Amino acid sequence: MCGIFGYTGSEHAAPLLVGGLKLLEYRGYDSAGIAVMNGSRQISLTRRAGGTDSVARLAAAIDEMNLTGTTGIAHTRWATHGEVAERNSHPHASHSGTVAVVHNGIVENYLSLKAELKQAGFQFQSETDSEVIAHLIAREIDNGCDLTKAVCRAMKLVEGAAAIVATSVSEPDKLVAARLGNAGGIVIGAANDSYMVASDIVALLPHTNRVCYLESGQVASITPSEFKLTTLDGQPIAIEFITSSRNADMAAKGRYPHFMAKEMAEQPDSVTGAIRQRVDLASGKIALPEFTLTKQDVESIDRAVFIGMGTSLHAAMIGASALESLARIPAHAENASEFRYRNPVLESRTLVVSVTQSGETADTLAAMELARDSGSRLVTAVEAEGTQATRLAEVTLPVRCGQEIGVAATKTMTATMVTLTLMAAKIASLRGHLSTGDEAHLAKALAGLPALVGTAIERDQPIRKLADDLAAYKHLLYLGRGAQFPIALEGALKMKEIAYIHAEGYAAGEMKHGVNALISKDMPTIALAPHDAMFEKMISNVNEVKSRGGRVIAVTTDGDDVMASLTDDILYVPKTHPLFQPVLNLIPMQLLAYYTSIALGLDPDKPRNLAKTVTVE
Ligand code: G6P
Repeated sequence: MCGIFGYTGSEHAAPLLVGGLKLLEYRGYDSAGIAVMNGSRQISLTRRAGGTDSVARLAAAIDEMNLTGTTGIAHTRWATHGEVAERNSHPHASHSGTVAVVHNGIVENYLSLKAELKQAGFQFQSETDSEVIAHLIAREIDNGCDLTKAVCRAMKLVEGAAAIVATSVSEPDKLVAARLGNAGGIVIGAANDSYMVASDIVALLPHTNRVCYLESGQVASITPSEFKLTTLDGQPIAIEFITSSRNADMAAKGRYPHFMAKEMAEQPDSVTGAIRQRVDLASGKIALPEFTLTKQDVESIDRAVFIGMGTSLHAAMIGASALESLARIPAHAENASEFRYRNPVLESRTLVVSVTQSGETADTLAAMELARDSGSRLVTAVEAEGTQATRLAEVTLPVRCGQEIGVAATKTMTATMVTLTLMAAKIASLRGHLSTGDEAHLAKALAGLPALVGTAIERDQPIRKLADDLAAYKHLLYLGRGAQFPIALEGALKMKEIAYIHAEGYAAGEMKHGVNALISKDMPTIALAPHDAMFEKMISNVNEVKSRGGRVIAVTTDGDDVMASLTDDILYVPKTHPLFQPVLNLIPMQLLAYYTSIALGLDPDKPRNLAKTVTVE
């Protein structure tokens, strides 16, 4: 949530800062701004707010200006405190204009800090919590501190999780970045004659893949020629650079009109990525070498909790049900923000599996810390390498689908479902619950899955037509049972996120207990009804909707003629192993939301009020 970028080097900073923001826009886009240190030791602040094109408007404004400074910071905002307005946009300057700050996170004690600063004569320009940080740093510099020390002292007064970058006219070629808790990452990149700092490696990749991630409580000071890392108390820390395997092309749309379209189309490849070198097709064995818990470890587990938020929660539900059914370990999935506050029972025999594509979601990280501190076994399934989730977990399972930029998660969900199902199979095998024949059957189904995902994606013509129709409705109902229930939830979530249509995902068996009262011609039902063990039950549910005058769109498997005869519209997906059928059924749900968004003239990549990475709780 919120994108941060900073540069200090020998080139003009402004175009580089704007370039960084363009790559970070997915993290928040209600306002954007840059602060550049100009030649006369003044900070030049340019900000734009409102709409979803603030970065584009900022870029246009900067083109007209003559900003020659070679050090600066930039920010793209997802508002938490204060309305979307230029005065609330980052960077924030201290009242003397000598310090500028960009901030990600929430200053929980900002009201008391603000009152104290006002008392001391500091004047505030914004309603944000972030502005207090600029004033706190300026106060320390006025008291004789250098920028690094001033940042350290200021951050010690801040409660809550925060990631910041600050600059000051007192040391015009220096940037100081600090990280407290889990409010998003801070990563430093080293390039020729320059250092950069960003909230996400994606903004560094056009310049360098030599990076160093900051841990909570660390402070980085960079100039064009030097990078120093310390604790908040000023103790030096050895710098460890890693070379990232990512490249800049991953963040380009290519020939697609939207990132979401590109990422949906990539799913045959990304599912292959999740399987590659994890399944031995010759022997029919699930290897998953990254899962390093031993037979003894998994035999000691007596219960599993899968945690996640948004789409990752739905992937977690699929993982929990696969683990329970294959490995016979009681398992459930839970929203991380509920889990962390309900004083859950966590023991050394509990397996906690966190699911987070970004590895940065604040609630998920807090729930992971709880699990770690309780001595539970902690596994995480993530897309983003090097992120905080990977540092907290005992075992990291990369989902290996490549960076996802579209705010509405697509390829991360399919790759995560596959990865978690592989983990379930591996645990089942270690515990002696998976026969050689069943394991080989699963491995064979996995080998064929990418091609079937491709087939499901190619069948988009009827979905485009349907989307034009659905765009006229205000309410939609999604129904599923068993492993299709999380897909119903996810289908409804996608529709809400990018088409702004009220959509409910429901367990089909629950309809009679309330939702039936809503059935009418004004609320179409999307019924996930593959030919599986629940098919007959879904027939009853579909009939109940039809007999109350509701329109039904069924998603079923190839070869069906029963559902087709009962419903108004039918979408077919290929049939596969029951554990992977949800992956195929998810594809038309993604496409339906995407094309409905397009039919409504919306931008599916930048849904209103949302952001890709949610680093505040
Ligand atoms: C945000 C994103 C969703 C994502 C969720 C969880 O809401 O818009 O696409 O599913 O966060 O994110 P995570 O990075 O933890 O998977």
